[in-house]
Amino acid sequence: MANITIFDTTLRDGEQSPGFSMNIEEKLQMAHQLAALNVDVIEAGFPVTSEGDFAAVNLIAKKVRGPVICGLARMVEKDITAAGLALKPAKRRRIHVFISTSGIHMKHKLKKTPPEVLAMAKAGIAMARKYTKDIEFSCEDATRSDPAFLYEIITAAIRAGATTVNIPDTVGYAIPAEYGALIAGIVSNVPNIKDAVISVHCHDDLGLAVANSLAAVQNGARQIECTINGIGERAGNASLEEVVMALKVRRDNLKHGAGIRTREIYKTSKLLTAITGIPVQPNKAIVGANAFAHESGIHQDGVMKRRETYEIMTPREIGLSENRMVIGKHSGRHAFGKKMADLGFSLNKEQLDMAFERFKTLADRKKEVFDEDLEAVIGDEIAQPGHMWSVEYFQVTTGNGIVPTATVKLKDKKGAIMMESANGDGPIDAVYHAIDRITGVKGKLLNYQVRSITGDKDAVGEVAVQVEFGKGCVVRGRAASTDTVEASARAYVSALNRMLAERQGKK
Ligand code: KIV
Ligand code: ZN
Repeated sequence: MANITIFDTTLRDGEQSPGFSMNIEEKLQMAHQLAALNVDVIEAGFPVTSEGDFAAVNLIAKKVRGPVICGLARMVEKDITAAGLALKPAKRRRIHVFISTSGIHMKHKLKKTPPEVLAMAKAGIAMARKYTKDIEFSCEDATRSDPAFLYEIITAAIRAGATTVNIPDTVGYAIPAEYGALIAGIVSNVPNIKDAVISVHCHDDLGLAVANSLAAVQNGARQIECTINGIGERAGNASLEEVVMALKVRRDNLKHGAGIRTREIYKTSKLLTAITGIPVQPNKAIVGANAFAHESGIHQDGVMKRRETYEIMTPREIGLSENRMVIGKHSGRHAFGKKMADLGFSLNKEQLDMAFERFKTLADRKKEVFDEDLEAVIGDEIAQPGHMWSVEYFQVTTGNGIVPTATVKLKDKKGAIMMESANGDGPIDAVYHAIDRITGVKGKLLNYQVRSITGDKDAVGEVAVQVEFGKGCVVRGRAASTDTVEASARAYVSALNRMLAERQGKK
């Protein structure tokens, strides 16, 4: 039983969706974790789109070993050159070229005829082959394309040197039986199909991305493109963890597996939520908080008698430890560092020092420190790129019948402390006004969410905010603490730091 090639596009299709942008260090950290997960291919970005994307693909190509590193390009010279140059340091590199093949895209988006598109595809593939022999060709909007034209262009692409042919369901339109039949049609109607790997790339607009990908495997596809937590354009892409666990749990039916180290799945999912500040919904398959929780008495009883009555896989298989409480206030720096590594965080010395400080404060405030608490608190440390500003001190006065007032001290990068006071509609509003006064940057709070990480009254609360700093500049911030006002202040400052780092990167 052969393995399906797992092509991860978290850093390209995933990262390009609103709210999921990552800075270069975050992308590198994510890429290292994808290598630890043992994905076969990492699509690291779309190098022509910005200097930042080029630099990230180039850095990942330099530093990450194991998977093939891939960069996306349209069928135009500047894109292919950018991808070729960015990928140069990679030991194993792939250029992924794409062009639309559906009538609607060719006519209205590209304003090209099918013969022109065919010629562009052949020329683009030939150009890309100057940089690598590992070429992936995608027919964008394949599921709304004329199958006869698909057969023709795929045949020509393979003849021009494509080694993987990708059949994207770009708009998430397909349903499983139909998509499976499309793949079967390609297998029987493309004469040289044996010279290439058939890949699938499904979007989740109808919630069918994973089902479609598996139907494709049943009909001859041997590469699945997917993302961690299913992030991606609009409703997202097929989720890597769901695809991989389906291949593992239902190998009897699907007849194929994957070379993924499934015990790294949970860590990878958590790292992504820590970096982006966007949690997965509790009922998300495989990695959601409730994925292994049995609430009903009948189920609990069954699981206690025999686990398999209601569990088709174990939490351990995805790297969830059953023993969630491990370190306490007497744990040393070494044990803490080891725990962080076990949870999937690769922190540099400065991050580890700060994380350890945060842990000590947390352990003083909270009886029991759980893995989830650490993930929230430390994830918040990672989500503070550059630390332009940090919260040193805050005090709030609030109550019914008085105007909420806050005094905040922030420390800047050089260590200078600045203090301001302000009023607000509530204590958090007052804190945010005081922060705006210190930094001179006015933020508009678009979204504010608080959730408790673990149970009990001393639980860690996680605050996630979405802030607009000037027209169209929307960033997210996230922070966790046993004190919700503190978490709120730090989440706001983390959004501010992210915005300042992004602006700095664009200069
Ligand atoms: O969804 C899509 O069609 C894509 C292609 C670039 C593969 O992301
Ligand atoms: Zn896509």
